[in-house]
Amino acid sequence: MFRKKKKIQQLDQEQRLGTSLITITKPNSIVAEQFRTIRTNIQFSMIDKDLKTIIFTSSGPYEGKSTVAANIASVFADQGKKVVLIDADMRKPTVSKTFSIHNTEGLSTLITSRSTRIEDVVQYVDEAGLDIITSGPVPPNPSELLNSNRMNEIIKELEDTYDLVLFDMPPVVSVTDAQIMATKTDGVVFVVRRNIAHTEDIKQAKELLDMVHANVLGVVFNGAEKRTDRSYSYYGYGYTDEE
Ligand SMILES: Nc1ncnc2c1ncn2[C@@H]1O[C@H](COP(=O)(O)OP(=O)(O)OP(=O)(O)O)[C@@H](O)[C@H]1O
Ligand SMILES: [Mg+2]
Repeated sequence: MFRKKKKIQQLDQEQRLGTSLITITKPNSIVAEQFRTIRTNIQFSMIDKDLKTIIFTSSGPYEGKSTVAANIASVFADQGKKVVLIDADMRKPTVSKTFSIHNTEGLSTLITSRSTRIEDVVQYVDEAGLDIITSGPVPPNPSELLNSNRMNEIIKELEDTYDLVLFDMPPVVSVTDAQIMATKTDGVVFVVRRNIAHTEDIKQAKELLDMVHANVLGVVFNGAEKRTDRSYSYYGYGYTDEE
């Protein structure tokens, strides 16, 4: 009886949160364990440094930035940390869909409307134990918004409120958003997806991040190939060959 109830509950959760939130829907899976290992590695790079604001990016599209950001946010929240995940990909936002929450207002609203406060746009997702700020309506000029003084103020306020502030970003090579945010935040987690990322693009992304003196904390290797069964096969984490 109990088991059956649990199973139904889990199905509901999967339907609501989607299969990509594996650390919530399947916390005992190997992939969820790999996300916890990535969390540990990120924590190692945080020792003795006050790292609070981290961006997630990659060289190109479809590499798993949003998936990794959402799951890492969730495993940090599991540790009792006060975490906020922000959809700073105002070009291709996905966070509201992933967590089945509304996106009528969010980061773009916060930046463009001075009368809007952070608490007006934050949504708490109970299953994840996370505060979330969705992208808000897609603006015509995302880079300008991110580059604004208002954005600096928002980041400052988020730093004062949360233990950890995580930003889901667009890819580095096509647009400047991630480069801009790398200059305003403490660290970058770079996602590389096997068989999707191009070596040339990875090199270019590294140059672009170096150009703005980004603090690349590490690289998440998203080893899954494009699969039809939607299973998540492998995540690894390593350090870049820099100092
Ligand atoms: N390891 C994996 N195994 C299977 N599917 C995956 C894996 N990683 C990501 N995906 C799927 O690939 C798609 C793209 O992932 P995601 O949205 O996280 O990438 P992204 O880098 O944020 O993309 P974009 O550049 O569009 O923002 C999603 O449908 C996601 O569920
Ligand atoms: Mg994305």
